[in-house]
Amino acid sequence: MTADAPSSETPDRLRADMVAALTERGSIRSPEIATAFARVPRERFAPEAPLEAAYSVQDVVVTKRDDVGRATSSISAPWLQAEMLEAAGLFPGAKVLEIGSGGYNAALIAEVVGPAGLVVTVDIDPFITERAGRFLAETGYPQVTVVLGDAEDAADGYVPVEGFDAILVTVGAWDCPWGRLLAVGGRMVVPLVFGTITRSITFVREGDGFVGLDPTVCGFVAMQGAGVHPHQEAVVADGGVRLTIEGGPELDVGALDRALTSSRVEAWTGVTVRRGESFDSLNLWIVTMDESFGMIWRDWERDGGRVVEPATRWYCPALITPDSFAYLTLREAPVDGGAGERGWELGWELGVHGHGPGGAELMRRLHGHVRTWDRDWRGHPGPDFALYPAEVAVPVPAVGRVFAKRHTRLVMAWA
Ligand SMILES: C[S@@+](CC[C@H](N)C(=O)[O-])C[C@H]1O[C@@H](n2cnc3c(N)ncnc32)[C@H](O)[C@@H]1O
Repeated sequence: MTADAPSSETPDRLRADMVAALTERGSIRSPEIATAFARVPRERFAPEAPLEAAYSVQDVVVTKRDDVGRATSSISAPWLQAEMLEAAGLFPGAKVLEIGSGGYNAALIAEVVGPAGLVVTVDIDPFITERAGRFLAETGYPQVTVVLGDAEDAADGYVPVEGFDAILVTVGAWDCPWGRLLAVGGRMVVPLVFGTITRSITFVREGDGFVGLDPTVCGFVAMQGAGVHPHQEAVVADGGVRLTIEGGPELDVGALDRALTSSRVEAWTGVTVRRGESFDSLNLWIVTMDESFGMIWRDWERDGGRVVEPATRWYCPALITPDSFAYLTLREAPVDGGAGERGWELGWELGVHGHGPGGAELMRRLHGHVRTWDRDWRGHPGPDFALYPAEVAVPVPAVGRVFAKRHTRLVMAWA
């Protein structure tokens, strides 16, 4: 069957299967969230998608793209929506603000908070607010308030409530100017962007500050409007490779392009990982230690010549300066402790490639970060996160980093 062929499955059947799959993988953990997913007809909020695609647990449905084809709006993947709704600690009667609309997630929230609750959803795009409002009315959730506006200004008065019990941010956010709308004890779930990394973090408000819980790897469409992420991007190798970094001196695209075609230096770390093993905390460690932290992206269709060999398909860590860069790579290697008589299995060794006049120095730094992470932090649960309004003094961690944003300070501490 092709993706566009009519489905022989009914929406009810697909919805039941989705709830079962989300429960099985642990994304749905409470009966209230299970009931919400079982009741809200997801396909009615994604009419452009074939039924199976609308109910795929892992996949987003893109609802709008910009001129260069990048998604600017989507109905998020069910697994991530379930995780974020569980994290938000919703309850009947709760007042909830959603940033980034689509209608579906707001309907799920409305199911959980019930008639005594309040759901306000904000989106910057009139195309999205129009359809979200229409879909919500058609599916029986007219009580959800849909607001057209920039989330950056939400705390300045157009959202008619203060003291929300929960704020769900469903768009990649570099900052949280709406944080003061959250009641003390309330929960704000936000895919927070720092140093080009995104983690969905649950922030619980304690006084003026917020304690961060359960950072989860995720990807979201980027914030538009006044809260757009400050970042630099260099597209090199005829579009085959992108280098992104949050701050730092201005990237010299011509020099980085030349760096790529000049000779490469490489070093192997002796640090191995199993196939399929996640090493997410390595990214967090490198961004803690190095202000040159960025990401390298390979376009797997355009980079036919394999000019770069990043360790991961998405979000591969790199150190980037105006004319040079180094990034993480992999080669096959035996890993101890495999099943069977051999006592080892085939996995990967982490290595580093460096390019440009400063490539060798960046390579040495990145190599050192990988070795230190492996020795001291690999088995560690990862850093603690806390968020504070920009105007209050923040605790500076012994091992960690403070990210200064426009409205807030994000403190990441390894302890
Ligand atoms: C992933 S979609 C939201 C998904 C939605 N919550 C759902 O039900 O699945 C992200 C949305 O954020 C919106 N957005 C981007 N920048 C924004 C801003 N500054 N203020 C409000 N909304 C914004 C986009 O227009 C887009 O519709």
